[in-house]
Amino acid sequence: MIDTHCHLFKEYYDNIEDIINKMKDNIIIVSGTNDEDNKEVINLCNKYSNVYGTIGIHPTEIDKISENSFEFIENNLKIPKIVGIGEIGLDYYWKNDNKEEQKNIFIRQIELAKKYNKAIVIHSREAISDTYDILNEYAKGLKIDIHCFSGSVEMANKFINIGCLLGVGGVLTFKNNVKLVEVIKNVELNKILLETDSPFLSPEPLRGKRNEPYNIIYVASKIAEIKNVSVEEVLKITTSNAISQFDLNVDL
Ligand code: NI
Repeated sequence: MIDTHCHLFKEYYDNIEDIINKMKDNIIIVSGTNDEDNKEVINLCNKYSNVYGTIGIHPTEIDKISENSFEFIENNLKIPKIVGIGEIGLDYYWKNDNKEEQKNIFIRQIELAKKYNKAIVIHSREAISDTYDILNEYAKGLKIDIHCFSGSVEMANKFINIGCLLGVGGVLTFKNNVKLVEVIKNVELNKILLETDSPFLSPEPLRGKRNEPYNIIYVASKIAEIKNVSVEEVLKITTSNAISQFDLNVDL
């Protein structure tokens, strides 16, 4: 199995090595959000064979960046284990008086992904229609992962129609999450990527505890239950989705 999105950084864990070893027969894609994380992503990729990474500037981190941040990203995109730019996007929940700046930085990173033919991993909070418009205008042809998708069935189909896959994690297991369950019912398994967003969003029955990549299994089980297929089937299809989405050179 492949956890396509998590943040295994020192800021959150003091036992990263154990957590990665627990996934030794599986793949983890670690996602950066700022200068510091992006450096940690590269180090983890160098140190552990089962770790791949994406680097990027998250919309809530744009006050901390400089030109060097973009240079760092561009210089490291040639590392084969850096398989995408992310997480990038728009977050109007956190701040909505800098929308133009957020959009510019988002678009600039999409252009970088195009230049180096890398996938993009999208964060969108209270900004789904602007996110869609930007992807539709600037990101056609790229491999796009809508991380932690939380929209309607209609919105899911709109994103899928422009070539996106939907990242699905622990939120799906939360009680009363009728909306996301409807999305899973209506979307083909080959459009879904499994993710944990560790250390955040632990699935039931571990909700509230610190999350880790191994917990992806709870998400797979919930999808299997909703779609009335086996967990093996969910893991097989979503693993192959992740391999092709991020051009991973692995055989699971
Ligand atoms: Ni994340």
